[in-house]
Amino acid sequence: MRKKIIAANWKMHMTQSESEAFLTTFLREIEDNDTVEVVIVPPFTSIPKVSELLTQTQNIKVGAQNMYWERSGAFTGEISPAMLRELFVRYVVLGHSERRAIFGETDEIVNRKVHAAYEEVLRPIVCVGETLGQREKGDVEKVLSTQLRGSLANVGAKELHETVIAYEPVWAIGTGKTASAAEAQKAHAFIRKTLAELTDEATADKVRIQYGGSVKPDNAHELLTQPDIDGALVGGASLDPRSFAQIVKAGAPNG
Ligand code: PGA
Repeated sequence: MRKKIIAANWKMHMTQSESEAFLTTFLREIEDNDTVEVVIVPPFTSIPKVSELLTQTQNIKVGAQNMYWERSGAFTGEISPAMLRELFVRYVVLGHSERRAIFGETDEIVNRKVHAAYEEVLRPIVCVGETLGQREKGDVEKVLSTQLRGSLANVGAKELHETVIAYEPVWAIGTGKTASAAEAQKAHAFIRKTLAELTDEATADKVRIQYGGSVKPDNAHELLTQPDIDGALVGGASLDPRSFAQIVKAGAPNG
């Protein structure tokens, strides 16, 4: 059984004080239980505060939204895997569509970062997903295959096991449009098949694949009960502690 993993991608929101207010409410709403793994992914500047407030929790981890692949050096404005590790960061989101579209990240760049994450014992959450144009052209599987093979080049079974994939159709991010549960399931099954081709079936079977793109309390249950959907990467709805708590609860086995 794959344990569900529900992550809050705060993007460029949430100062330290806002993070603290969020967690005060969220921790009251949600009990730290071991049926769902929760990851809070704040902007870099709020990571120390969030880490500090989560030191007592077992199943709520801290993630980062990005990082550079070098350990240190003359890379003005960048953050290294070792710097994140020191702040008790466990997961790092890599290749989010906003990084790809706005900051020009390619599969090759994502792949370098993925390997840098393993070196520092950080678990990557690797994002893939097609644009609306690509979907309309019937290219969903082609795009997913290219992104997975590029972003996960030279990743072995042991590393893949530590990796989370996030399927985020670009047209569903922040738009209020969600892929139907059936559309999402189809893409997730294809992703798992591709992971099996990259490693083996037993490994692919253990990898958790999150869905992302306008996940809300009212659609979370239907998405999270699909056989190959193992969690959610939540943007907008994760900024409200009660909405996010409801989504986490929808991920529990009886949710
Ligand atoms: P959204 O964002 O939930 O606001 O659509 C998801 C994401 O970008 O990770």
